[in-house]
Amino acid sequence: MSALPSSIPSLQRRPIRELPDELISQIAAGEVVERPASVVRELLDNALDAGARQVTVRLASGGVRLISVEDDGQGIPREELTVALRRHATSKIASLNDLETVGTMGFRGEALAAINAIAELSILSRFAGADGAFALDGRTGELRPVARTVGTTVEVRELFFATPARRKFLKTDATELAHCIEAVRRHALARPEVGFSVWHDGKLMEQWRAADQREQRLADALSDDFVAQSVAVEHIGGPVRVVGRAGVPDAARSRADQQFFYVNGRFVRDKVLSHAVRSAYEDVLHGQRQPVYALYLEIDPSRVDVNVHPTKIEVRFRDGREVHQAVRHAIENALAAPRAGDAVTPAVPQQPFFKPNVPASGATWAQPGIHFVAAERGAGDFEAMWPQRTGGPGHEPESGASRWPTADAAPAAFRVSVGPAAESPGAGAGTHEQAWPLGRALAQLQGIYILAENSQGLIVVDMHAAHERIVYERLKTQLDGAAITSQPLLIPATFAATPQEVATAEACAAVLPALGLEITPFSPRTLAVRAVPGTLADGDPVELARSVLAELAQHDASTVVQRAQNELLSTMACHGAVRANRKLTIDEMNALLRQMEATERSDQCNHGRPTWRQLSIRELDALFMRGR
Ligand SMILES: Nc1ncnc2c1ncn2[C@@H]1O[C@H](COP(=O)(O)OP(=O)(O)OP(=O)(O)O)[C@@H](O)[C@H]1O
Ligand SMILES: [Mg+2]
Repeated sequence: MSALPSSIPSLQRRPIRELPDELISQIAAGEVVERPASVVRELLDNALDAGARQVTVRLASGGVRLISVEDDGQGIPREELTVALRRHATSKIASLNDLETVGTMGFRGEALAAINAIAELSILSRFAGADGAFALDGRTGELRPVARTVGTTVEVRELFFATPARRKFLKTDATELAHCIEAVRRHALARPEVGFSVWHDGKLMEQWRAADQREQRLADALSDDFVAQSVAVEHIGGPVRVVGRAGVPDAARSRADQQFFYVNGRFVRDKVLSHAVRSAYEDVLHGQRQPVYALYLEIDPSRVDVNVHPTKIEVRFRDGREVHQAVRHAIENALAAPRAGDAVTPAVPQQPFFKPNVPASGATWAQPGIHFVAAERGAGDFEAMWPQRTGGPGHEPESGASRWPTADAAPAAFRVSVGPAAESPGAGAGTHEQAWPLGRALAQLQGIYILAENSQGLIVVDMHAAHERIVYERLKTQLDGAAITSQPLLIPATFAATPQEVATAEACAAVLPALGLEITPFSPRTLAVRAVPGTLADGDPVELARSVLAELAQHDASTVVQRAQNELLSTMACHGAVRANRKLTIDEMNALLRQMEATERSDQCNHGRPTWRQLSIRELDALFMRGR
């Protein structure tokens, strides 16, 4: 061990002394104000707390030279202007009880004092009901009369002028400006009824007019696409209400730049919330894709502590579990309702409320302008139309037409849809066909896509992706129930297994039945698949067994079904789903379409890709320049 250097400076100790007030303020300011955008945030909080309906933000040089926030709120009385700049001076709380139920953005009485410690600050304000307006110079404390209407303008110049070291940490003006605008956007998304505008170096950068609808503000401040590519969220779970919009998986981005979460109107970043969102999307969004969302959680203020972070960006929930659950369910439910596969679908005429039979899943169909209850699940069982698999490997069902059920063998509900594809929509089609959201199958394209027509035009379905989702959802429902229904094979499928596979099959002997599988050693180097999930009876049992064993080998056998359930089922579903290049009859295609309508989340495959798209007549017309 080397000796410590003899010249440790801390040994020359100073006596303990209280820091001068100015230094205390500067240290405290460091926690609140990191960059110009922090000042914008604090001043906007104050404006909104004062009841502003219109807020104008003016910036110069990315906010470093000037940040001015003007509001038409209630103003500050002349005699309180000087007090507003003192540390721990606030009009928003007066007791601990107030703090526990605080409903305003601010409550510490620190922001203006902090800003005043590190910049040149002045406040111009006219209090509602007062005769005139006054301006306070934060540095000199001078108060002079000025002319202005009711409201407040806070001007902050030369940020960090006294602390050049901090100023060096700032990025370019363009970057700081972007952060400032983002701070305004966050407030704007929380308060659609307030108008906002942002100016930079004399140029109008953003303007969001007061809106009656949250959707309008989301469209203005984010984009029309954000609204078109998201579903409405509205959910009450215990003492928690979650509203807003959650992006469809298709709208997910590589960056997490459109994720807005609010708790009682305050923008927050919270582990409980982000975990809940992630787990809600887990099923439809794989990999690194980032969902987009703007979600607003409303909860009794006494159930959340907002006083845990200097910038109030973090909160602590009294019961994290109830919040996690509410958020997760809110998003899952919203995403589960199948919706238009495409954002460009134009408004469609109101359709009759179609309700042949409420499906077990209760999936509702939320295409813009249409509100369907999807067709009954049993109305056409796609797999039931497949030839039953009876043998071992090498017994792949052929795609010969004779092996498929004929129109006569199809369930009664589908006979109506068998017929020449050339029929014009609506002409000979029955009411049911018109009302089927995914329409009536016309043909199969390249062994990959199903083409169907509905009242709006053409539907294109990726048949493997769609079927995979159906199989997956069914397996999941069964496993949630207890175990996946299994179907014994008449002749067990045996295969030469690796020692690892044999070991896994033995170790997981207790787990496999829950997955609907029975895999037992046949000899030291051979495994026999004796039963497979009924839903997957048509796939290759050996391939299925191999991939499930490979997945199980990565996990601890005792917990695998809970922890890795979704991945496992996803793997299994992929094996069970109809393969590309398999020829389908019109009946089978229709059966698949009806099952999609009855299946939750059927508009995305397990990997978050869309399973179908609508090409409207209008888009088709546009392709051919009709009606121009
Ligand atoms: N734009 C404004 N309109 C009306 N009153 C304001 C405005 N800005 C500040 N005030 C008054 O000045 C006080 C001090 O503001 P400051 O931001 O320092 O503290 P706060 O908002 O109470 O708490 P916090 O430090 O958590 O923001 C406020 O309590 C409020 O009464
Ligand atoms: Mg404040």
